Amino acid sequence: MADALRITAEEKAILTGEQGPGAKKAMEIVVALAKIYGATDLVQIASAQVSGVSFKNLGQAGLEFLQDWGAMGGRARVPSTLNPAGADLEAWREMGFPEEFVCQQRAVIDAYVALGVAPTLTCTPYQTGNTPTYGQHLAWAESSAVAYANSVLGARTNREGGPSALAAAIVGRTARFGLHLDLGRQPASVFDVRCPIRSEADLGALGILIGRQMRNRVPYLGFAEELPPRCDLKTLGAAMAASGAVGLYHVEGLTPEARLGAVTTAGLPVVTVDGLDAGYRLLDGTPTEIDLVSIGCPHASLPEIAAMADSLDGRRLRTELWVTTARPIREAAAAAGLVARIEASGGKVVADTCLVVAPVAAFGFRAMATNSAKMAFYTPAHSGLAVRFGSLEQCVEAALTGRWKP
Ligand code: F3S
Repeated sequence: MADALRITAEEKAILTGEQGPGAKKAMEIVVALAKIYGATDLVQIASAQVSGVSFKNLGQAGLEFLQDWGAMGGRARVPSTLNPAGADLEAWREMGFPEEFVCQQRAVIDAYVALGVAPTLTCTPYQTGNTPTYGQHLAWAESSAVAYANSVLGARTNREGGPSALAAAIVGRTARFGLHLDLGRQPASVFDVRCPIRSEADLGALGILIGRQMRNRVPYLGFAEELPPRCDLKTLGAAMAASGAVGLYHVEGLTPEARLGAVTTAGLPVVTVDGLDAGYRLLDGTPTEIDLVSIGCPHASLPEIAAMADSLDGRRLRTELWVTTARPIREAAAAAGLVARIEASGGKVVADTCLVVAPVAAFGFRAMATNSAKMAFYTPAHSGLAVRFGSLEQCVEAALTGRWKP
């Protein structure tokens, strides 16, 4: 397979170090991955999205790896953005993030900035300006963003690792295989969803079930009933990518390749989904007392923040509430008066981070409620908290009473 890879004269020049050691190292990574995956060539990318930002996950060794690459002259040559960090970089002190951790976190971000990556610190770059168009090739790493870019926007990216997305950013190319190819984007199974989807939590529970079944293959979904307007497909993709490694799904009549007839379902196995109880059982724990409510995984959009403010309606909370989002969306929410309304109830609109990548142990929480299937899936293992999973209405009720109402 290795012999099948063809690279251009410019790519060869980068590989031999003509553009400096930082670019050489990046091209070595991209070429090595291309050979492993049997790619025949490299494809130019429109943007990169890099994960591996929280110092909690990266540690000192990861920080030094980035600093060394920057010192070698590595610089992104396509627009590149960054996943959430481990702290809100403006409100960290009043929120109680440990100062030493925040200093280490800033050093990581500085290292990425030296590498030419914009410190956007969000898992929803498509909500804040890094919005790919149909057919564009990308090298994105955040699994929920990969699913959204491929499925909802019709762009093409594999699920890159943090270092491989950074390498792709530096050389402006990635290996052409998998979801970059028409063939790799064809569905492997059809899911006939007969049960109604009433909330974003239902959509997440469905995603968890499908992700477990499909692993990294492509599902095609048909819904018997129209999805409610508040259900954002980012929730579905994030869940599939969490329990499996689904990077692309198609929804009949909704996602671009399904609408354009670019995929075929003839002869595929059909799975009927009659209920979501199995998905809820996988995510919903048993605590009855709640001390933290998490909304905004993936990072909340402005309409989602508005829905939160409306749901609270000025009532006083008994638990901590974190609504996590991107910095520009927080600013827009502040300008619209939404942050003040949520804060008046005692909640926080938190930017730059989320409760999976933040050092949550430092806060002493015990039990979380969330409407995000991805957050519910990762939290017990990542943060050691017990979790209740349900609709936004249930989460609001938990935040107001400190108790989970099944
Ligand atoms: Fe984003 Fe954190 Fe969820 S990175 S997708 S809010 S786990």
